[in-house]
Amino acid sequence: MKVLILGNGGREHALALKINESPQCDKLFVAPGNGGTASIAKNISLSGNQELLKFIEREEIKLVVVGPEKYLVDGTVDYLRENDILVFGPNREAANIEGDKLFAKKIMYDNNVPTAKYFEFSNTSSKEDIYNCLKKQKYPIVIKANGLAAGKGVTICKSIYDALEAVLLNFEEKAFGDAGSKILIEEFLEGEEASLFVISDGEDFVCLPAAQDHKRIGDNDFGKNTGGMGAFAPAEIVTDALLKVIEDSIVKPTLYGMKKIGKPFTGCLFCGLMITKDGPKVIEFNARFGDPETQTVLNVIVGDFLELLYSAAKGKINKESVKYNGGSSVCVVTASKGYPDSYELGYEIFGLEHLNDLPIKVYHAGTEKKDGTLRSSGGRVLGVTSHVKDKNFAEAIRVAYQGVSKIHYENIYFRTDIGRRALNL
Ligand code: AMP
Ligand code: GLY
Repeated sequence: MKVLILGNGGREHALALKINESPQCDKLFVAPGNGGTASIAKNISLSGNQELLKFIEREEIKLVVVGPEKYLVDGTVDYLRENDILVFGPNREAANIEGDKLFAKKIMYDNNVPTAKYFEFSNTSSKEDIYNCLKKQKYPIVIKANGLAAGKGVTICKSIYDALEAVLLNFEEKAFGDAGSKILIEEFLEGEEASLFVISDGEDFVCLPAAQDHKRIGDNDFGKNTGGMGAFAPAEIVTDALLKVIEDSIVKPTLYGMKKIGKPFTGCLFCGLMITKDGPKVIEFNARFGDPETQTVLNVIVGDFLELLYSAAKGKINKESVKYNGGSSVCVVTASKGYPDSYELGYEIFGLEHLNDLPIKVYHAGTEKKDGTLRSSGGRVLGVTSHVKDKNFAEAIRVAYQGVSKIHYENIYFRTDIGRRALNL
């Protein structure tokens, strides 16, 4: 079949490579794609939904796989479905589980899904009510913009002063625009985080091996939040026994709750979990694959990944299509110095040809091929991802950093401690 992936990051490069492995994949397109997807698929540039639909119909694309949330929340998926195109990804109403945190909280509360306690305020709430609420809290607390804020809408507040600043940021400075016109004041959850991708046909589901990512820019989780500086899978904190608890207390009731209100979730439900001493709790849901977790998760499964996505999109998920391969994978993101703030682009990337003999895949996140040379074109540039046969994280980390050491471009920056948590250090 012919498949089209929407997006242009490392996640989409990883999805493209895995889908390409399927015997069912005859031809693969990525729109718009990047310097990495160009070498395994055909990159195409399309503007607007009508042009997209025309292309899909002309090429007789059998499945569209959506990468970033943008296409979910802007109605692209709905538009394609209305035109009888098969899409892997939720429609706009179901994607609100990511785009509207209060909606996600309501689903969780109505279906007894464990999550952090919260209070809700809007920019029309009385300042006195907000202040009185903040005064009563035990710190730290978390303040979140309700809508999509490019991963920047969450502030961990150590004191009431931080909290007041966060409220001002949302309501007065309008730093997140409309996304911050409502906020959640949320209980701070303590524990270890894990990312679980649940592939669902709206009712039934398959959980892929859990992963952990490293969101902060600096070693030892210091500094600003980023899109993700690295990841590893499988996350051993999610044991088989714990996965069963997560399925029963979180996944099943959430999918059931969505279906019950007429918004069945088909696609990848990304459960951002905190494993607390009282059990697993939901930090957030996303309506898509995570980046860079996907780069590692897809390296620890075997089987026909395209079949998994295709069967889910068709409404009857093939639960036998993939399984854990017994291995381990570590992804180190190489970024442009200055990310996540400002950074320079356009530097030539050297050394990728020296990685061919290593068990490594290099996923391109922000690269572009210009006049035959590969250059940096984004804050996150490459995801250097090891895949070793056994559950041996010491080896998976060693190989990933061996790969990183062979890559050069001006202003390269990466964390040096990716995966260390897998070694319990
Ligand atoms: P998000 O942008 O929702 O992924 O949140 C960013 C990060 O903030 C999460 O990965 C957590 O590390 C942290 N976080 C969010 N909510 C909470 C919470 N209620 N308790 C503790 N940490 C949180
Ligand atoms: N790595 C976290 C995310 O994709 O949102």
